[in-house]
Order: sequence, then structure tokens, then C-alpha cells
Amino acid sequence: MLSSHLLFVAFLSSGVSAARLYASHYSGTINILNLNGNTLTLVNSTSTGNTLPSWITYDSPGKALYIADEVFYGASSGNLASFSISSDGALKASGKGPTAMGVVATTLYGGADGRSFIANAHYQTSQISTFKLPLTGAQPLQTLKYTMDGPGKIPSRQDAPHPHHVFTDPTGDYLIVPDLGADLIRIKRIDRSSGKLTECGTGKPVPGTGPRHGAFWGSGANTTLFIANELSNSVSGWKVAYPSASTGCLILTLQDTLTPYQGNASAPTGTKVGEIHVKDNFVYTSNRNDKRFSGNDSITQYNIASGGKITWVENTSSYGTYPRSFDINKAGDYIAVGDQTTSNVAVVARDTVTGRLGKMVATLRIGAAGTPENEDGLSAVVWAE
Ligand SMILES: *[C@@H]1O[C@H](CO)[C@@H](O)[C@H](O)[C@H]1NC(C)=O
Ligand SMILES: *[C@@H]1O[C@H](CO)[C@@H](O)[C@H](O)[C@H]1NC(C)=O
Ligand SMILES: *[C@@H]1O[C@H](CO)[C@@H](O)[C@H](O)[C@H]1NC(C)=O
Ligand SMILES: *[C@@H]1O[C@H](CO)[C@@H](O)[C@H](O)[C@H]1NC(C)=O
Ligand SMILES: *[C@@H]1O[C@H](CO)[C@@H](O)[C@H](O)[C@H]1NC(C)=O
Repeated sequence: MLSSHLLFVAFLSSGVSAARLYASHYSGTINILNLNGNTLTLVNSTSTGNTLPSWITYDSPGKALYIADEVFYGASSGNLASFSISSDGALKASGKGPTAMGVVATTLYGGADGRSFIANAHYQTSQISTFKLPLTGAQPLQTLKYTMDGPGKIPSRQDAPHPHHVFTDPTGDYLIVPDLGADLIRIKRIDRSSGKLTECGTGKPVPGTGPRHGAFWGSGANTTLFIANELSNSVSGWKVAYPSASTGCLILTLQDTLTPYQGNASAPTGTKVGEIHVKDNFVYTSNRNDKRFSGNDSITQYNIASGGKITWVENTSSYGTYPRSFDINKAGDYIAVGDQTTSNVAVVARDTVTGRLGKMVATLRIGAAGTPENEDGLSAVVWAE
């Protein structure tokens, strides 16, 4: 009696209620996870229906999931797969769209609701492609291909343009594409009704930066774009200036750059800054293969001051290796880290006031562990909220 009462109190005071997450694994599965108290369990694991699932776009109002296909060998093309989500979280395949090889990120955009189209960033094939939703199996609506005159400063990674992420700005009028190969932050204007993208300038990081992923903070004159730079292992803040004419382009001006380490120290050799997310006045990066925590890699927290300037706050464990993916829940009291090579999802407590990451609450290995530097293991994790 007493012990069950104490357990019940402990459960309540842990503050954790039930939550659902989805995690993709490069072996070709999408996994449904439940977080209940301090326990993370695998509810179901099913085939994505494509070859190398690399990324999950979760459409909360549309009760749908989109899973990108990074396939880059053994086949000539891949498929963007869509799923509908039932009230208990179960997934049902609902459509496909044929994609050229190497899709590493997707985003919803356009239409009156901001989610009538989907854009794909193709790392391998140096392009962006789009579909009108729902996916019907039809060819892309638009394909934008990029070329370079010669290799970039780091030829082993900058042999060609490599769009690595695609996401909208806070107004929904522009699409941003960090291009790791070309050292460009590509900007596209969105025609909301047709879903068509038009080139609208670039931000130009210094050669060898390798911009990978990005996230926005603020609004109006304070709007700042934070970019995680994979090759220079740093984060850059770019001030965003909006045009006065609705036909103009936004302009990016570099404001500051910081490494993920105290005193702006350089990353250990072999580190590859990965994901970036903004929550309130804090920005976080995952630092793959820096092995800062007894073999585990790290996450860095920065504070964002008025005007968008950043300061380093602390580094914490990613509770696994190669944290390719992480997602902060809406309440802001948990972060789910998707560690690729150890192939685990680690749920870590987060202080909603200070933004600091605390103890690991739960961890679960999904599928087979990966091999360092290979496209295997866990690829992405999202909270289903
Ligand atoms: C797991 O998913 C498959 C495919 O969607 C479905 O047929 C099966 O019923 C699910 N199992 C459970 C326990 O939900
Ligand atoms: C920018 O942020 C500062 C500090 O938060 C605030 O005082 C100011 O009103 C903001 N300006 C705009 C245009 O949002
Ligand atoms: C931090 O180091 C990077 C080089 O790694 C440099 O570009 C940046 O200007 C430095 N930032 C500060 C604030 O010194
Ligand atoms: C990482 O964080 C620990 C604990 O806060 C701190 O002692 C250490 O100096 C930090 N390391 C780096 C490289 O920033
Ligand atoms: C490393 O991560 C594992 C979970 O995958 C955890 O059990 C262990 O405590 C972590 N160690 C450190 C130093 O972060």
C-alpha cells in the first residue's frame, strides 16, 4: 500500500506524463516510441517503404508523417513516403513521391496553411525538388539543380553543391537552403498558391564553412538566422533584413560566429557539428564525434541576447554517439536526442527558465547500432505533439 503510494507520488513529481515520439532508422524502419514516466518503450517498428530513411517531417495538424529517402547507391532513385497517423499514433502508408538520390531533409511550405507543398534537399544530387501534397506518385512539381565551377576550400566534402537542409522563415514567404558543398545559404521566394520557388539571393559564409542546418529566432527587425556549420564546427548568427516590397528578397548579414566550446575553443579533430534548434532565447547544437563525455558526444547551449547575439553557456552529454538529430518538446521540459551510431533515443530533462539540459530521463536503443561515419543506425527523432 505504502510503497505503491510512494511510487505514485514519485511518478507525479517526476513531472513526466505520457508522450509519443517517432524515430527513423537507416535500415528502413519507422519506430513508434512511448515515454511514460521514466520509461521509453518501443510500441511498433514498421517498414518505411523506402530505402534509406534519413529525415522525418511531422505534420501535427494534418496528422501525417513524411519520411525522406537518402538512397545514394544501389538504386537510381528513391521515394518520399507519407503516412497518416491514427488517434492512437499508429501509422498507415498514404502516398509516395519519386525523388532523385540523396534526400537528407524535407519541409512543409506554401498554401494558405503553410503545409500544402513539401520541399526536398538532395545532398547527393545537388538539387531541391518539391511536390504538391498529398503525394500521388506523380513527378516533382519543380526541380532546381545547382552547379559549381570547381571544388570548394575542402575538396573532399565540397566537390559539388550539397544542399543539406530546407526550412521556411518565420513569415513563410521564403525557403532557406544551407548548401554545405557550395558554402552558400540559398534563399528562395515562395509563391504560396502555386508552390513555385524562385531564386532570391544567398548568404555567403567564408569558404570552408560548410553550412549544414539552420533555425530562426525573433521577429521583425530582430529576426536572426542561426546556422550550424559542419565543416568549420561553429554556429553563425545572421541578421535578417526584410524587403519593403513584397516582391523583394530578404538579405542575410553575418553577425557573429562561435564554436561549440568554452572560450571559443576549436573543436577536436573529427568533430562534425550536426543539428541546431532554437527554443525561446536559447540555441542548441549537437556536436557529433567530439567524444567530450567519456566517449559520448556533446550538445552545446548558447544564450541569445536582444538583437540575436549569442554567448556560450555549457556543454552536456548527448548520451550516445553521433547525435545526428534532436528535438525539444513544446513544453520545453524535455529534449529527445537521436544518437545515430549508438542508435539510441535519449530523453534529457530541460529547465524551461534557464534552458539548461539536465539528467537523462530515459534511453532506448532502436534497431541495430551503426558504424562511425556510415549511413546506418538511427537517423531522426521527433516528438509527436
Ligand atoms: C504495427 O504496425 C503494423 C503495420 O502498420 C500493423 O499491421 C500492426 O498491427 C502494428 N502492431 C501493433 C502492435 O500496433
Ligand atoms: C527587438 O528585441 C528587443 C529586446 O527584446 C525589443 O525591445 C524590441 O522591441 C524588438 N524589436 C522588434 C522590432 O521586434
Ligand atoms: C570564434 O572562432 C571562430 C573560428 O573558429 C571565429 O570565426 C570567430 O570569429 C570567433 N568568435 C569570437 C567571438 O571570437
Ligand atoms: C564542458 O562542460 C564541462 C561541464 O560544465 C566544463 O567543465 C568544460 O569546461 C566544458 N568543456 C568545454 C570544452 O567547453
Ligand atoms: C553515455 O550514454 C549512455 C547512454 O547511452 C549513458 O548510460 C552514460 O551514462 C553516458 N555517459 C556519459 C558520461 O554521458
